[in-house]
Amino acid sequence: MSPDILAPTGLPIEAPAGASPDAPSAPPSADADALLAALLAELGPRTVLAGAEVPARNGKDWSTLDPVRPLAVVRPTTAEEVAATLRLCARFGVPVVPQGGLTGLCGGALPVAGGIALSLERMTGVEEIDPAVATMTVRAGTPLQTVQKAAEEAGFFMPLDLGARGSCAIGGNLSTNAGGNRVIRYGMAREMVLGLEVVLPDGTIVRNLNKMLKNNAGYDLKQLFLGSEGTLGIITRAVLRLFPRPGCTMAALCALPSYGDTLRLLGAARRGLGPLLSAFEVMWPDYWQVVTTRVPGVRGPVAGGHASYVLVEAQGMEEAVDAPRFQAWLERQAEEGILADAAVSRSLADVQAFWGVRDACAEFPQVLGPHEAFDIGLPVAAMDDYVTACKAGLEARLPGAVALFYGHIGDGNMHIVACLPGASPQPKLAIQEVVYETVRRFGGTVSAEHGIGLTKKPWLGHVRSEAEIALMRTIKAALDPQALLNPGKVIP
Ligand code: LAC
Ligand code: ZN
Repeated sequence: MSPDILAPTGLPIEAPAGASPDAPSAPPSADADALLAALLAELGPRTVLAGAEVPARNGKDWSTLDPVRPLAVVRPTTAEEVAATLRLCARFGVPVVPQGGLTGLCGGALPVAGGIALSLERMTGVEEIDPAVATMTVRAGTPLQTVQKAAEEAGFFMPLDLGARGSCAIGGNLSTNAGGNRVIRYGMAREMVLGLEVVLPDGTIVRNLNKMLKNNAGYDLKQLFLGSEGTLGIITRAVLRLFPRPGCTMAALCALPSYGDTLRLLGAARRGLGPLLSAFEVMWPDYWQVVTTRVPGVRGPVAGGHASYVLVEAQGMEEAVDAPRFQAWLERQAEEGILADAAVSRSLADVQAFWGVRDACAEFPQVLGPHEAFDIGLPVAAMDDYVTACKAGLEARLPGAVALFYGHIGDGNMHIVACLPGASPQPKLAIQEVVYETVRRFGGTVSAEHGIGLTKKPWLGHVRSEAEIALMRTIKAALDPQALLNPGKVIP
């Protein structure tokens, strides 16, 4: 790989006194005024919003953390303008927090008081679709749904998909290495990226809009920026892989007599459906009970009272061939005694209704009230023992606590929502301690898909060794010696 490095033209950089990743210091107001004047002079008032013009929406993401008001919101439209912003912020020692669609759940896009929020909201659009190599070049601020639609209109499929598709931006998806519902077939966001354009904290533009699937020329530098949550550089453009558009989608909602049978069904789905298998979502009984009885408009396609519920989805190319194949596969599982009950989709509306049961978790704020939400990862075989241990731990520590378990179990990724009904404030720390201590005991991860941001930073040491965290600090210091880019995020 030979990135095209455009050298910054800014002034020499002086490290601000006292800056550290944990305590980003707000700049003295004289510097803040000088920075604002310089930003306005270079980028203009349409790009730089300060004072009363700072939109409230840029103060927070979808985490439950309190909003923070930035000094200014800068909304560049090109990588060069991003570079100019970072150069000026480096010169004046002012922190910068990159922002996409603001749908992150861990506070990764929360501004720093006295710092700049650099929003990519105006850097939108699909620049190119190359049908011969099946790639798409997109600007970072483009909403995921727009990217998906553009791929579809060109006869392709962009498989990254998650609930926030209408609001989240592709740059945020890539910088957080988003997961979602189809990881079992297509991988996480990083596996859909061939090339990136990134701006480093000193304003250097590192451009490698590679379209080749195979490129082993030196370090794979893009991996530094995929999943590092905007702490090492700002992604401005990306080359994405496109996939064949599926010709049909089939789904089954299965009830199983035990978690052991759920594991057997997963193995059977991998063997019997092969590359068609596109989702394997599991719901534990407490989750099923709440969503099918308390979320308006959600109806279970099978009766309750079972040990485990699985949504299996398969995407094929030809309905006449693949729908009967899926049906036959499901019937074999019933004959083997793996299934207690099952409903199979007859239409896309059925598929959507099955997903409605899984996606009903979006209503938990209304149904459960304030709660803690998790995206832990575990070896698949350990999931059910984890559930038993976590529930016991919560009951011992917080009698009466409610915990619901569900998620992308085919990927080893479980979601948990937990709360103590009636408690105000919620015992957040106690809930987190039980969940994450149990994760540590079971050899899992504190974040399988949402990232670390601010909210999970205290727990990173549970699942990453001292040597790993030291290496993260070394990389951060090498790329961002002034600790100005998304300071205080990810690394404890
Ligand atoms: C989900 C999101 C919350 O899987 O990751 O529902
Ligand atoms: Zn998820």
